[in-house]
Amino acid sequence: MRVLVIGSGGREHALAWKIAQSPLVTALFVAPGNGGTERLATNLAIDIADHAAVIAAARDNRVDFVVVGPDAQVVAGLGDDIRAAGIACFCPSREAGRLEGSKSFTKALCDEFDIPTAAYARFEDEAAALAYVYAQGAPIVVKADGLAAGKGVTVAMSVEEAEQAVIDCFSGAFGASGAAVVIEEFMEGEEVSLFVLSDGKDILPLTTAQDHKRAFDGDTGPNTGGMGAYSPAPVMTRAQYDEAMARIIEPTVRGLARRGTPYAGVLYAGLMLTGDGPKLVEYNARFGDPECQVMMMRMESDVVPLLHAAATGTLAGHAVAWKDAYALTVILAARGYPGAYGKGSVIAGADGLDSDTLTVFHAGTKRDGGRLVANGGRVLNVTALGASVEEAQRRAYRGVDQIDWPEGFCRRDIGWRQIARERG
Ligand code: AMP
Ligand code: GLY
Repeated sequence: MRVLVIGSGGREHALAWKIAQSPLVTALFVAPGNGGTERLATNLAIDIADHAAVIAAARDNRVDFVVVGPDAQVVAGLGDDIRAAGIACFCPSREAGRLEGSKSFTKALCDEFDIPTAAYARFEDEAAALAYVYAQGAPIVVKADGLAAGKGVTVAMSVEEAEQAVIDCFSGAFGASGAAVVIEEFMEGEEVSLFVLSDGKDILPLTTAQDHKRAFDGDTGPNTGGMGAYSPAPVMTRAQYDEAMARIIEPTVRGLARRGTPYAGVLYAGLMLTGDGPKLVEYNARFGDPECQVMMMRMESDVVPLLHAAATGTLAGHAVAWKDAYALTVILAARGYPGAYGKGSVIAGADGLDSDTLTVFHAGTKRDGGRLVANGGRVLNVTALGASVEEAQRRAYRGVDQIDWPEGFCRRDIGWRQIARERG
């Protein structure tokens, strides 16, 4: 099988790394890829927003199967266009991808199928939104409706903060995404991510992970795309997991099928473990980045038959095996991220660190002659396996400390919640 992975982040490097290990794969391409993927695949320098260019590249390279990584391509319906061209593609349809692209779509689905989530109201009018904030009080959560690259959410601890967030949304701070605002009840609890594959009918549960969204140690600083993650996340008990499957995941997959817009792909549920049981925070219609990195590191099974079965309606009967270990990843980001940052600084020492228990996945990197240079906000994902989260963390930071990149930074506390629990 000739496989093309779409994207250029750490998630796509991890997918390509795992796919490359499959005996089924005879050729592997990544578009556009990064300085890490070019070591295990052929990078194709195309504009992935141009669907005709992606299809032409797939045809030119006789690709049998395309795996789409990023949310922007899911929401833009790249999967529909690739399938229409007669090529198998792991990517939910544009319609099912609205689970990620539109918060109000997901909220309406939750109402229709009685899925536990925060109470909410949607407003297209600033005055009405503000009146609702004043009536509800704080804490309260204000979200731009639509994709805002994870930046359209304000968890407001005071009415003033909520007020400002509403005003920002309607003043266009998040572009067209802010034309409508969703205001939600604040849910108290610990967050966990749950991943499943679905082919539209059947569900194959994958695993859990916990992400670290804030830029700095102690979960402080601005929200980012994720500064580190580990998997599995034992904070979620078996009972909570069963409840989340029965009350959240299964009704979603069944509901979308009943509506005639089945969900085929990876479904990523962001859950809050509240005193009232797991509640849905949000859905994503793709693998998490960096959660994918820890999942691929832990996965024992060949990933290719699983992705292909999810994409082609043949998931029934498939199973997935995991290594009996924890995986943890630490993101090295460019100083300034998630705000403005520089590109082009040289990174030394990142090559040659990989072992059975350590893999350095690349995100924003490129090769410039013999040198590796930074080319994005999140740059490297140092990912390790261990018998405990603490051991995986120790190995990951040992890797981090061998990398010489003065223009970069990382958090030093990835996994802290679980390590505290491990130490009792
Ligand atoms: P979202 O983009 O919807 O995932 O929101 C980003 C982050 O904001 C989530 O990961 C949570 O940490 C937080 N958040 C979102 N909605 C709520 C809520 N209703 N209650 C508490 N925290 C929330
Ligand atoms: N790590 C969060 C995300 O992928 O959305």
